Amino acid sequence: MDVQEALRTRKSIRGYKPDRVPKEIISRVLAIATRAPSSLNTQPWQITVIAGKVLDEIRRENMRALNEGMMSTEEIIRTSFEGIYRKRQVDLAIQLFQLMGIGREDKEKRNQWTMRGFRYFDAPAAIILSLDKSMNSTLTLCDIGILCQNICLAALEFGLGTCIEDQGILFPDNLRKLAGIPEFSRPIMCLAIGYPDWEYPANKLVTPRETLDNNTKWYGFE
Ligand SMILES: Cc1cc2nc3c(=O)[nH]c(=O)nc-3n(C[C@H](O)[C@H](O)[C@H](O)COP(=O)(O)O)c2cc1C
Repeated sequence: MDVQEALRTRKSIRGYKPDRVPKEIISRVLAIATRAPSSLNTQPWQITVIAGKVLDEIRRENMRALNEGMMSTEEIIRTSFEGIYRKRQVDLAIQLFQLMGIGREDKEKRNQWTMRGFRYFDAPAAIILSLDKSMNSTLTLCDIGILCQNICLAALEFGLGTCIEDQGILFPDNLRKLAGIPEFSRPIMCLAIGYPDWEYPANKLVTPRETLDNNTKWYGFE
């Protein structure tokens, strides 16, 4: 698969086949993905790959925390969006709910949908990307973002789908308790990874993008 095709075809996968992904395959994905550039080549990412019983246990703990209405800890920075950004967020929810047959007023189904995210979309594996708490800068957040995309693209070569998601790290203490993430690390982002179930309705979504004319300014090209 060439780079253009990978960039065009990558999309968030929110429904997976139950098939397990061999450790060797994920290892190959990570080996190539960690060719990612990073600020000053610090390679600040700490990578935790979780599957099997451990992942099931984390899913259960996340569900429990959600049901108990436990707020995520203060280490998570999350703000609400406004204006066009809010509109795009709402549009995404409308598109996903339409595909999934979830009615606007159907609180129960909407809750179920939210829970899927906290269950890593029931993927057979999840990758948690953490930073040492001392590596707290816009540079390192950018490094994690680049690695995320590299993982998504590298995964395609192996027939794997991914969904970058922050829902999976919103209860960081569950990850510390069950996946050995140390106290001095902060989970920043995670990815669900597995073989896509192409029959799963949400996987049919192709999200729109703004045209370059609306978000790019050019100078000196006349
Ligand atoms: C930093 C980041 C966090 C995300 N968090 C979530 C999430 O928690 N739940 C989810 O369903 N999708 C999440 N997504 C996926 C986005 O919704 C998705 O990338 C966007 O709608 C564009 O769609 P596409 O990935 O299919 O191109 C996240 C994506 C990024 C880059």
